[in-house]
Amino acid sequence: MAEPVRVFITGASSGIGRALAMAYAREGASLVLLGRDAERLEASARACLEAGAENAETHVADVRDREAMARVVQAAFGERPIDILVANAGVATGLMRGQLLETPDAVRAMLKINVDGVFNTVEPVILPMCARKSGRIAIVGSMAGVRSLPYSPSYCAAKAATHMWADSLRGGLAPHGVSVSLIVPGFVKTPMSARTRSWQPGAMSDERAALIIKRGLERRRPVIAFPLFMYAAMRFFALLPPAVVDGVMRRFHVDVPETPERETS
Ligand SMILES: NC(=O)c1ccc[n+]([C@@H]2O[C@H](COP(=O)([O-])OP(=O)(O)OC[C@H]3O[C@@H](n4cnc5c(N)ncnc54)[C@H](OP(=O)(O)O)[C@@H]3O)[C@@H](O)[C@H]2O)c1
Repeated sequence: MAEPVRVFITGASSGIGRALAMAYAREGASLVLLGRDAERLEASARACLEAGAENAETHVADVRDREAMARVVQAAFGERPIDILVANAGVATGLMRGQLLETPDAVRAMLKINVDGVFNTVEPVILPMCARKSGRIAIVGSMAGVRSLPYSPSYCAAKAATHMWADSLRGGLAPHGVSVSLIVPGFVKTPMSARTRSWQPGAMSDERAALIIKRGLERRRPVIAFPLFMYAAMRFFALLPPAVVDGVMRRFHVDVPETPERETS
């Protein structure tokens, strides 16, 4: 009998990461779950075990901590090779109406989590997966990384950086048997999106988003973007004259509260 798939997910204590863990749990996966809030992370692990996971090991760690991430990922891989690694952990930050400048300390903290954190998560699996000539890497970006929005300048920049990185990795790792998928969610109903006050077209449950992501990873899709109409719109906006799009975007009333995250050192 084939071994259950082994899946490593960051940000598994909430939202999309938790829902994705549950989706794999229902198929008996072996899970490695990472987050910072120990209580919520343990609750995710318990729910996964109840749903049918073979096991659900938890690691309380901050994705900003490069050494800790390398230790956790390498130890998990050493125990049993990771088939699918999902760099999902992230935070949102932006501007309230009328606010012109994001707080620089909040911006730096978000960049460390959303950019460095993704690198810290993915880098340790690249060589072991290539050595096995097998593995899937998923990087969670955002529609905000496809065409920038005036309400969340630094978040858009961070997500665009991860999009570019995922695209580069994909081309380089494919000949070594490792697939890279860029996940591009629109609005997903999670604690993160609940804090943003705006019209949220096409908003979907985290459960539905998880099934779309899981199906896309099974098919090794290079880009898993949903809902498709929103992805098409954002790609189209990126082709239009910037001033026209900026003018349209300004007409929407959006409040994106600043993250409370600050740099840890
Ligand atoms: N929801 C949306 O509409 C939407 C749309 C596009 C993209 N996304 C992206 O999807 C991903 C997941 O977002 P979500 O909506 O599921 O948000 P969420 O419910 O707020 O969950 C975020 C997860 O990231 C973890 N996390 C945050 N900072 C971390 C850190 N420094 N170290 C380790 N873990 C950390 C959190 O863990 P703790 O709480 O334990 O710290 C939590 O498990 C993010 O990358 C986000 O940018 C979301």
